[in-house]
Amino acid sequence: MGYPHPSHPKETVVLSQYFGDAGARSYEGWTRRGGYEGLRKALGMAPDAIVEEVKASGLRGRGGAGFPTGLKWSFMPKGDGKPHYLVCNADESEPGTFKDREIMRWTPHALIEGCAIGAFAIGAEVCYIYIRGEFTEPWNVMTAAVAEAYANGALGTNVFGSGKRIEVILHRGAGAYICGEETALMNSIEGRRGNPRIKPPFPAVAGLFALPTTINNVETLAAVPQIMVRGSAWYKGLCLGNPKSTGTKLISVCGHVQRPGNYEITMGTPMKELIYDMCGGMLPGRTLKAVIPGGSSVPIMTAEEAESCVTDYEGVVAAGSMLGSGGMIVMDDTTDMVYQIWRLAKFYAHESCAQCTQCREGTSWTTRILGRILEGQGTQEDLDLLLDLSHNMTGTTICVLSDSCATPIVSGIRKFRGEFEAYLSGARAPVLAGV
Ligand SMILES: Cc1cc2nc3c(=O)[nH]c(=O)nc-3n(C[C@H](O)[C@H](O)[C@H](O)COP(=O)(O)O)c2cc1C
Repeated sequence: MGYPHPSHPKETVVLSQYFGDAGARSYEGWTRRGGYEGLRKALGMAPDAIVEEVKASGLRGRGGAGFPTGLKWSFMPKGDGKPHYLVCNADESEPGTFKDREIMRWTPHALIEGCAIGAFAIGAEVCYIYIRGEFTEPWNVMTAAVAEAYANGALGTNVFGSGKRIEVILHRGAGAYICGEETALMNSIEGRRGNPRIKPPFPAVAGLFALPTTINNVETLAAVPQIMVRGSAWYKGLCLGNPKSTGTKLISVCGHVQRPGNYEITMGTPMKELIYDMCGGMLPGRTLKAVIPGGSSVPIMTAEEAESCVTDYEGVVAAGSMLGSGGMIVMDDTTDMVYQIWRLAKFYAHESCAQCTQCREGTSWTTRILGRILEGQGTQEDLDLLLDLSHNMTGTTICVLSDSCATPIVSGIRKFRGEFEAYLSGARAPVLAGV
């Protein structure tokens, strides 16, 4: 995983500074590295001032949508007399994304501290951290760290003697991708089936247990303590020219590069530099064919689009895709794009909660049509049918899982149509039988 950090001199290590350093996992080790200074400082501030500081830093949600974090926090009601909740989304199930796992494995107290600051800022006394069911080691590390945080007064009814109550409750998921969607996650914590809820009401109005709730990703919350200690101006300065995309971003790179792993980059780093320099370039004798830059739910980029792209929210959109969660799947010239798109559609069909017809039927029909193309049984009409189905799957459902299935299909047909046609004409031999 490219440890110890930095694994490349071009990395900007903020969140990953202690990845690979087992001494940072304990409360004592964390405080010796400057930990919990951010929480101590925040407890001396007015909650609104914390929200303003996070707003000024330009921090945006690292879970996928890139929504400004301070602005999200400011949506929480004030003086309503109701309990508020902070929820940390540690479900990390997006194919290609494996960064939150590393934050929890190596720096659990950075996350606990970020949760405590966030909870205090939004007027919540309780924060739930919803951890992906398969994450056994992160779960064990987080469990030990939360117990230590309580034992040392960083959590509890009187945090660091401030008189403030902040509790952190760990909740383990059961391995469903859909439970990463924020409202499905809340249903799951409540003991209900993990189905997304219709919005509005938005979580800030009626979230967990129908009470005002803010939900943030692990990487988002883990960035907050350093913003408290070093200030919003420092964080905002971590960008290569675009003030709308600030700070550092953990990019999980997998696929056909020489050195896959997590890389922490300053927002705005050219994707070319990340692939060819930091990750050591493509495997010997291979060339870049395509990149899915933001976890599997975003449009596929061609090699040319990836090589001309700057890695920040606006830069990736300008190059035809989205930064998403920062899980980058790099594919070389040996990749069968039709097969890969079928594989992704199959994932979404398996993970659909089946509430909405367009998603339940669409994910399964598209998977079957792609499968029959790979079996050599496709017809020319199948491409139009796939595009038509994808159109009906986009913007029509309660959550965007359905859109996420349609996105690689549409971008794949648009950018790699020749590969589909090779199967349809028989120029390419079938690779599947009886799916
Ligand atoms: C199907 C689906 C799965 C999702 N999975 C995750 C996930 O595993 N982790 C995550 O942080 N956000 C995930 N999200 C996004 C969350 O709904 C939410 O936007 C995010 O947790 C907000 O945090 P942020 O503002 O800090 O980015 C998912 C969304 C959808 C539609």
